[in-house]
Amino acid sequence: MDIRTVGVVGAGQMGSGIAHVFALAGYDVLINDVSQEALDRGLSNIAANLDRQVSRGKVSEADREAAFDRIRAAPELAALGPCDLIVESATENEEIKNKIFAGLAPHLGERTLLASNTSSISITRLASHTDRPERFMGLHFMNPVPVMQLVELIRGIATNEETYKALVGVVERLGKTHSTAEDFPAFIVNRILVPMINEAVYTLYEGVGSVASIDTSMKLGANHPMGPLELADFIGLDTCLAIMHVLHDGLADTKYRPCPLLVKYVEAGWLGRKTKRGFYDYRGETPVPTR
Ligand code: CAA
Repeated sequence: MDIRTVGVVGAGQMGSGIAHVFALAGYDVLINDVSQEALDRGLSNIAANLDRQVSRGKVSEADREAAFDRIRAAPELAALGPCDLIVESATENEEIKNKIFAGLAPHLGERTLLASNTSSISITRLASHTDRPERFMGLHFMNPVPVMQLVELIRGIATNEETYKALVGVVERLGKTHSTAEDFPAFIVNRILVPMINEAVYTLYEGVGSVASIDTSMKLGANHPMGPLELADFIGLDTCLAIMHVLHDGLADTKYRPCPLLVKYVEAGWLGRKTKRGFYDYRGETPVPTR
């Protein structure tokens, strides 16, 4: 399958990273979000991350310009009609994702492939609400998208081989590596990573260690690039909680019980870096632990 134009729905942290790597790999990209402000924020995020790659000598100035020129803002879903592939990367909310796919449906060509960057929602269920479950897949990027090597590929029960092979080819052209996960709650990375983060929050909740001692322990004791609480803030505490709910509901095992302290932080609106407060307070020069 010849994939040239890619639509990205959602210009947040993940969507802008996805648009960035597709444009750098030579795809034409149309990026959509609900408001012009969200689109502007996404585009300036892409520009800043491309600049960072130029300043580190990873990307040439000419490639940066060419990549940025390949990205066009599309304020209406209808503008994504001519895309060969659409990657949905909206909020981790099933109803919102279903609405987006329904909104896209009347504008798509018959061959267009649909993919979701969901971090945990059933691909089979999302696909079943579309007109093309056989051309629907999970294409799960890791944050920060321009840096992380892995993309998880998740087939729904109806996904056909042609779609799977096309997306394997896309991941290769992006210069990334794929892993294939079966369609069960949270797939592979988040099935393992997010319960570890939840356990770190329990460790804090039960007073076993402070934020700093938990993160230092895992950075220096297990060689993780970020401590689990720092990583939770980076992913977003709302996303971590949503994934724990999917695991708890989908696998019906109490070992996936979300920690009440994680729930409390989310209720406070302390969602991590994006709201400038989570397990750390990011409002000053250096992050300060909040416990
Ligand atoms: N865009 C482009 N480049 C970026 C970037 C971005 N957004 N963020 C960082 N970089 C680059 C930097 O330019 C730098 O490049 P060089 O190595 O070429 O110099 C490199 O990444 C390292 O960055 P820094 O030196 O600024 O910072 P660091 O060494 O502390 O690394 C990190 C930052 C790469 C984020 C590292 O801390 C890390 O790997 N953390 C763990 C990330 C992780 O686990 N991600 C997965 C989260 S789970 C997920 O995403 C799935 C889900 O569904 C929830």
